Amino acid sequence: VGAEIGDHAHFLAKEIQEQPRTIERALKGRIDERFATAHLGGLNMSVREAREFRRVKILGCGSACYAGELGAQLIEDLARVPASAEPASEFRYRNPVVEPDTLYVAVSQSGETIDTLAAVQELQRKGGRVIGIVNVVGSTIARQVDGGIYLHAGPEMSVAATKSFTSTVAAFALLALHLGRIRDLAPEQGRRIIAGLNALPAQIGQILEQSDAIAEVAKEVAKSHSVMFVGRRRGWPVAREGAQKLKEISYVHAEAYPSAELKHGPLALISPEMPTVAVVPDDDLLDKNTSTLSEIKARKGPVIAVAHRELPSDLADRTIVVPRAEPELDPILLSIPLQVLAYHAAVALDRDVDKPRNLAKSVTVE
Ligand code: G6P
Repeated sequence: VGAEIGDHAHFLAKEIQEQPRTIERALKGRIDERFATAHLGGLNMSVREAREFRRVKILGCGSACYAGELGAQLIEDLARVPASAEPASEFRYRNPVVEPDTLYVAVSQSGETIDTLAAVQELQRKGGRVIGIVNVVGSTIARQVDGGIYLHAGPEMSVAATKSFTSTVAAFALLALHLGRIRDLAPEQGRRIIAGLNALPAQIGQILEQSDAIAEVAKEVAKSHSVMFVGRRRGWPVAREGAQKLKEISYVHAEAYPSAELKHGPLALISPEMPTVAVVPDDDLLDKNTSTLSEIKARKGPVIAVAHRELPSDLADRTIVVPRAEPELDPILLSIPLQVLAYHAAVALDRDVDKPRNLAKSVTVE
């Protein structure tokens, strides 16, 4: 996971491929099988302090914010603490109410993003306690926060976030497990999550073996002017991140919507010219998701599904099948085909994959 490109055509390809190892590195030394919990020494927080928070607020920019949205769902699911994520830039400019019983989490791969740093400083000025989920060791945000979790994902050279996104979600799973196990999460539930986390690296490897097939789908996507991404609950931040990846590296316009919101407006856009990428895990919402697909197909919209099993042709034109994780961890696996899709769409369009126009890896000026 070093900074050399090796045999890869682009850093982005390298960083996508590295994910089995970067997830391992995020988990390493942090799983306590005996007590079915996570050890996060860097939090600098006693058990008693960690029990007292009544809310969690997560802040970041771009992909870090989308990863934070998944983090909020993990914390609500596993620790039953109300949690939400917001772009750091919005938070810092709206004179936020800072509460003493809220745990604030700043997410930043680089640890240098100015809006995230400013949000941290504003929080601390008002007495808020802030932890960081950061990749770059010793970065400005890492030094500024009161404790945190390093990703240990190695340098991310490509402008578009990939391995840092999945590692951030894995770090949130550890945080949620830790908070859950000092609250109400039963030991067997903790063990279930740990088994799910430990299985991720091999499962990511299986997804990456399908890269050639995904590249074929990407060639079709690359011909579109605009692509719709939809997902529900945990699939919704996955869809947002998928749309972001496609936009930033291929310059194909993409929009992400929560599946159920389609009928409140964007369904009007659906036509044979506008494909939809749908995140459809095989969970308790499968029926709801398949009815969304029927609505799209009824308008002759092409559908590319990312799912746990092949969907029938009346629901999806193409299915990218991913292995099943524990439901709370599924977003990590579901997001990887969308990275591969965006990468190959960008290659098909001959874009500057690692350095997309108008973008910087870390935005350190306002
Ligand atoms: C830039 C990058 C994005 C990234 C965002 C936040 O806009 O182009 O890929 O998600 O900054 O970066 P950070 O380093 O704070 O995670």
